[in-house]
Amino acid sequence: MQNSCKNVYITTPIYYVNDVAHIGHAYTTIIADMLARYSRLIGHNTYLLTGTDEHGQKIAQSAEARNKTPKEYADEISGKFRSLWDEFDITYDKFIRTTDEEHKIGVQKAFLKMYENGDIYKGEYEGFYCVPCETFYPESQLIDEQFCPECGRATIVVKEESYFFKLSSYEDKLLKWYEENPDCILPRAKKNEIVNFVRNGLKDLSISRTSFDWGVKLPKEMNEPKHVMYVWLDALLNYTTALGYGTDEKNMNFWPANIHLVGKDILRFHAIYWPAFLMSLNLPLPKHIAAHGWWTRDGEKMSKSKGNVVNPKEVADAYGLDAFRYFLLREVPFGQDGDFSQKALIDRINSDLGNDLGNLLNRIIGMSGKYFDYNVSSKDVEKFHKKEIEEVNSIVDSLENYIYNMQINRYLEEIWKILTIANKAINDYEPWNLIKDGKNDQAMALVALITNIMAKVALLLDSVMPHKIKDIANCLGVEISTENYNKLILNKEFLNDVKITKVDALFPRVEDILLAQPQTSDVTKTEDGDSKVELEKLDIEDNLITIDKFFETTIKVGTIIEAQEVPKSGKLLLLKVDLGENRPRQILAGIKEFYSAVDLIGTQACVVANLKPAKLMGYVSEGMLLAAKDENGLSLIRPEKPKKIGTKIS
Ligand code: MSP
Repeated sequence: MQNSCKNVYITTPIYYVNDVAHIGHAYTTIIADMLARYSRLIGHNTYLLTGTDEHGQKIAQSAEARNKTPKEYADEISGKFRSLWDEFDITYDKFIRTTDEEHKIGVQKAFLKMYENGDIYKGEYEGFYCVPCETFYPESQLIDEQFCPECGRATIVVKEESYFFKLSSYEDKLLKWYEENPDCILPRAKKNEIVNFVRNGLKDLSISRTSFDWGVKLPKEMNEPKHVMYVWLDALLNYTTALGYGTDEKNMNFWPANIHLVGKDILRFHAIYWPAFLMSLNLPLPKHIAAHGWWTRDGEKMSKSKGNVVNPKEVADAYGLDAFRYFLLREVPFGQDGDFSQKALIDRINSDLGNDLGNLLNRIIGMSGKYFDYNVSSKDVEKFHKKEIEEVNSIVDSLENYIYNMQINRYLEEIWKILTIANKAINDYEPWNLIKDGKNDQAMALVALITNIMAKVALLLDSVMPHKIKDIANCLGVEISTENYNKLILNKEFLNDVKITKVDALFPRVEDILLAQPQTSDVTKTEDGDSKVELEKLDIEDNLITIDKFFETTIKVGTIIEAQEVPKSGKLLLLKVDLGENRPRQILAGIKEFYSAVDLIGTQACVVANLKPAKLMGYVSEGMLLAAKDENGLSLIRPEKPKKIGTKIS
């Protein structure tokens, strides 16, 4: 059996340049690289794409905060992503940037085509936008009428002229595509979520913005200089513009993508918007969109403020790139969330990599050297080891399926079963006794069996740990090539006679934790399994709360419509504050020394709106004003610019 050569196109998401790479980015990229290497080895003409997503309000804001132009800032961070992937030896065929000229031209052509197809119309957008997620949300999806359902941050109200994509008219076509292509979205459980979402109805999608300009301009034929494209339309199209869509289309023969790898948080964009855009462009749809889960660290969500973000370079430098790759691919079933802990990584290194794999290679070196001067001949393997060979072959035959179903951890588990067969054979046949009994041909057959198994395993693991596998290949004198893959894996042939070369231990034991633990917090588990953050090491605050706790307090903008002094009180003013409710609130504030009543009328203030009412000097107070007081006096905290009465503060 031979794998016929075909074009295979694999993509990672393009990464936002508002932050440097962390373990989540490395994870997607390493899976994609593994699949690409595997695909090349089995003989396919493979194209791996990665890159950076550089437009949008979020990036413009990040640049501004650093006093840089968006382009300067994007150049810097995009460069960092690219160097990291180079250091990680990611075998990308193209690194696309959405600021590339060809990309912008391609995106404009696509926009025009969708417009000409009748899928784009002009309207007015009024709604809620989450800048960090670069996503519009209908009011019905907001939490507490204001907060982003994805990240929990406050959305902003946007009202502007906008072009819309007729997403609603693609509902049925999308549902049909999902139905006719059972594996178009992997894993299946995630697909069901998407199908249900679409069944609940799709709204047209706002695809242009006028309130900022860091984006791809609409095509000049539209004559709309104020509009830039919605960043997700711009970003998704990278998968086709990278192949030359709209410019030099020479690589478009790789389209459609075989697999778009994405995190679960961005599946909706890929599984709903993207196929709809493609249908509108009359382009074929991707074969698979595969969504992986989310990484946490020691059971905690990673965040910069907690200081517990896993830096992939640090991990790879400390523990080795291949061990890190193996850990990421083996530790969690694809699609499920995974937890990074150094202990789990060390266990994998010492047990799977050191004991099962590395030691087996040592045993080959030891046995072949001691008994046969490093010369191994496969001539009697079949005669003495039919059973083991059959067991190994049957596992090998099942492997490709795991890759096609994105069950990479299962793929690795099965390969480890092959290693177990090899280690067990040594213990069962006891080559040292065979030699003692003068059964040299049997001892040679055993060493050859193990050597052949190791050669197969090397071919199967090359995509996962390409550098260590080079050492194994050198040791066995076997080239990692498509030809050898066909010979040893597909055709189940045996190695010709080989000469073993000694190599250093592949995975020396790791005894210590090699990375500093998160600086700001230590994470422990409480008895009921919840994670809690211990506070001793924090020097900023010792009463940290979670964001949920913060949101228990409702703070609203109000306008002071009446103010008077409270008789007999040196401190209190009696205020009426309009919070946009059915009646103004009565609030007592201890600010008489600092503000005169009349000056306050008509000004805005921030009010804690869900305090239990309290009685002061005989008056009920139904809220509290926010203020800051130092040795120079007291100031009320007010919005910088007037805000609608009742606006919540977050
Ligand atoms: N720019 C968009 C993608 C556009 S693709 C046309 C984007 N960028 S991102 O940089 O925010 O995220 C890129 C990928 O990293 C996503 O697939 C996301 O799921 C993944 N991860 C970000 N944090 C993660 C974890 N903690 N764990 C695993 N992956 C996570 O979204």
